[in-house]
Amino acid sequence: MSSDSSLQSSAVINEAVQTLRDGGLVAFPTETVYGLGADAKNAEAIKKIFTAKGRPSNHPLIVHLAAPDRFDQAQVDWVPILANWARDVSEEALKLINAFWPGPLTLVFKKDKSVLTDLTGGQDTVAIRAPSHPIAQELLRKFKGGVVAPSANRFGKVSPTSASDVRHEFEGMLDLMILDGGDCEVGIESTIIDLSSGDKAILLRPGAITPSEIFSKTGVKVYLPGDVKANELTEDLPKVSGSLKAHYAPTTPLRLYAPGRVLDALSEFPDIKSRVAVAVWDSDSCLGDDGHPSAHFEEVEVPSDSAAFASRLYRSLRDLDQQGWDLILFPEPPAGEEWDGVRDRLQRACFGSGPSSSSHVSN
Ligand code: TXA
Ligand code: MG
Repeated sequence: MSSDSSLQSSAVINEAVQTLRDGGLVAFPTETVYGLGADAKNAEAIKKIFTAKGRPSNHPLIVHLAAPDRFDQAQVDWVPILANWARDVSEEALKLINAFWPGPLTLVFKKDKSVLTDLTGGQDTVAIRAPSHPIAQELLRKFKGGVVAPSANRFGKVSPTSASDVRHEFEGMLDLMILDGGDCEVGIESTIIDLSSGDKAILLRPGAITPSEIFSKTGVKVYLPGDVKANELTEDLPKVSGSLKAHYAPTTPLRLYAPGRVLDALSEFPDIKSRVAVAVWDSDSCLGDDGHPSAHFEEVEVPSDSAAFASRLYRSLRDLDQQGWDLILFPEPPAGEEWDGVRDRLQRACFGSGPSSSSHVSN
């Protein structure tokens, strides 16, 4: 990934650092999606993020930290770094960190008292991650502090995976400095694990790093929220904004179809006679025996490998959304944990999609 660094010169990154120090916003690439960054110690700058995104102030932000250099593969001592942000960092937490940071894993801890509640949405916990994208790392290292960064999209909309997506998202609304790091490799947001309850690691948002991978690399068992007794979960505040039923949504209606059941998905839209984009697995040569009137459909191939699918999911949704289809159909992702991240995003995108999506989302 080092070639991505060359997309932005040191001088541009220095300017971005100065913008953050001055309380401004900087959009920057991470390996998952582009983030909209601000100084995590500046309440006014944090407020600008919520305003720009149209995000309710009780939806907490992730603090992004620089990963110190590893010399000779030696393990980095994260304890003093985390001490500025988190309390009760357990042995289990350090196992996850040593295995997956920098990378697409966010961990939720009890917060240190110095962490602004403006960024935690009033909660006593804080979400932290060290992104691996070289531009994000250079920015964070030079800034020498924490940077809060939600995905750089308007609240509830599809997350951006390129610099031009970010530009498009805030065009005419916000004069924003955007660091260009090319297309994001992972393509969906980081996996979030809640470690704040002390004993159990709980999956709050599925992503590229799965519970099985965590278990096999660290021996730490990750529980799903459904595995944990209701009284152990605090439901009063939205822990993960992506956990709203509607999120990541295009303006064009989007639905999923079961294998070979395109016409069933269409039955909800009896008036649509044409302009339907149907995503099909690249492993299938055609839609099968649905007998649909092919003149009304256009097939768009999507990868049948889960990582490749994730990497292009938001790109496809944005592109299809701009092409003026009446309806977009995607195949239901197959069963299997490696598909959980994209299944989660697609289901929420379906629920929030359509011209009136913003009214769903704000609920
Ligand atoms: O991959 C990512 O995580 C990207 C890149 C930019 O780093 N960021 C991202 O941020 O997805 P955002 O704000 O779009 O989503 C962060 C999620 C939110 O849904 C939020 O509710 C959750 O993290 N979160 C933040 N702080 C939390 C906390 N203290 N407890 C539980 N969930 C938290
Ligand atoms: Mg987001």
